[in-house]
Amino acid sequence: MTSIILTTFLAVVVWASVSCTGADESIDNQVVPESPLGDLEDIRFLLWTRSNPGDRDYYRLLPEDLDNLNHSPLNTSLPTYIIYHGFNDNGESDWILNSKTEVLGQSSANVLSVDWQTLVPAPWYASAVHNVYRTANYSARLLDWLHAERGLQATRIHIIGHSLGAHTAGLTGRYLTSGTIARITGLDPAGPFFYHQPSDRRIDPSDAAFVDIVHTNSGSIIEGCNGLFEPVGHVDFYPNGGMHQPGCFATHDSDWSILFGECSHARATELWVESIAAFSANQKFTSWPCSDWDTFFTGNCTTCGEGCLDMGFHVEQGLTGSYFLRTNPAAPYALGDNQ
Ligand SMILES: *[C@@H]1O[C@H](CO)[C@@H](O)[C@H](O)[C@H]1NC(C)=O
Ligand SMILES: *[C@@H]1O[C@H](CO)[C@@H](O)[C@H](O)[C@H]1NC(C)=O
Ligand SMILES: *[C@@H]1O[C@H](CO)[C@@H](O)[C@H](O)[C@H]1NC(C)=O
Repeated sequence: MTSIILTTFLAVVVWASVSCTGADESIDNQVVPESPLGDLEDIRFLLWTRSNPGDRDYYRLLPEDLDNLNHSPLNTSLPTYIIYHGFNDNGESDWILNSKTEVLGQSSANVLSVDWQTLVPAPWYASAVHNVYRTANYSARLLDWLHAERGLQATRIHIIGHSLGAHTAGLTGRYLTSGTIARITGLDPAGPFFYHQPSDRRIDPSDAAFVDIVHTNSGSIIEGCNGLFEPVGHVDFYPNGGMHQPGCFATHDSDWSILFGECSHARATELWVESIAAFSANQKFTSWPCSDWDTFFTGNCTTCGEGCLDMGFHVEQGLTGSYFLRTNPAAPYALGDNQ
């Protein structure tokens, strides 16, 4: 993955050199295509089920192609998980394949990875942001079509998206006409170009019956953050405060990826994958309701109040607000109920 921050810095520097007014506003407003936008037909919808579970065994679903659908392993009696990768990533990324393997290991389901890599290549971040809206609409049309042809129910769909893909997930829910998506999970939703967007232009709680967010690299780009800090779901989780993750400061990787926040930004996907198989108490990401990290960090949020929540795949639904937790600096990350 190449950093959103790096490309945004470049865009802002270029912009700042030709203009002299509020730089912050410009980040949101200059959504101009920087490169060819890419063809929606190049998006690949990769489907796995228990009858084709191997990494390379995916079935490519083609929108509006009945013959293709008739030969597909899609079973709309089962729950459907839809996964969006982020900027300069792809639909067969490790975290997506691992999610698929963990989910299918636990239950029979449809897992659909939306591979929109040709619409989000580095360094064309502004173009990629534009494609969030196009891709969400295109995917929503596919889901509406599957509803019409196969009775796919929105109430049995859970969409998961990382980075830019978190906004694409939310907007897919918004654009869907065949019902309200049951759940959308945003993994460190991208910040640049979205800080001041109204809620109908980014992920927000109205996109699904339940929206849960994991913030791992959230804050301003000046602080080395790629994600949105503000709460944008029904529940928002802030592991280790939600800005920088432990283990991402050491020089274990390339220093560049740490400087530009990629390690912390990608951590949301690792926490997510680990949470799918978390069943015993010490494997859970127990999280406490709290107003902010400083209060939590100083030990002033030790009680569960209306309830503590397990961040990730198995999160309980019904509560709202911001939740905090610490994690280990390396896998396994979960600390159970150790605050
Ligand atoms: C679809 O899933 C349901 C529920 O598990 C199962 O009963 C049914 O046999 C499946 N259909 C096909 C065609 O595999
Ligand atoms: C989505 O796409 C359809 C047809 O492709 C178009 O008519 C509609 O205006 C689009 N909606 C949005 C919100 O872009
Ligand atoms: C935490 O509680 C202590 C007293 O127990 C207090 O001195 C401190 O200011 C509190 N910190 C925050 C951030 O609320």
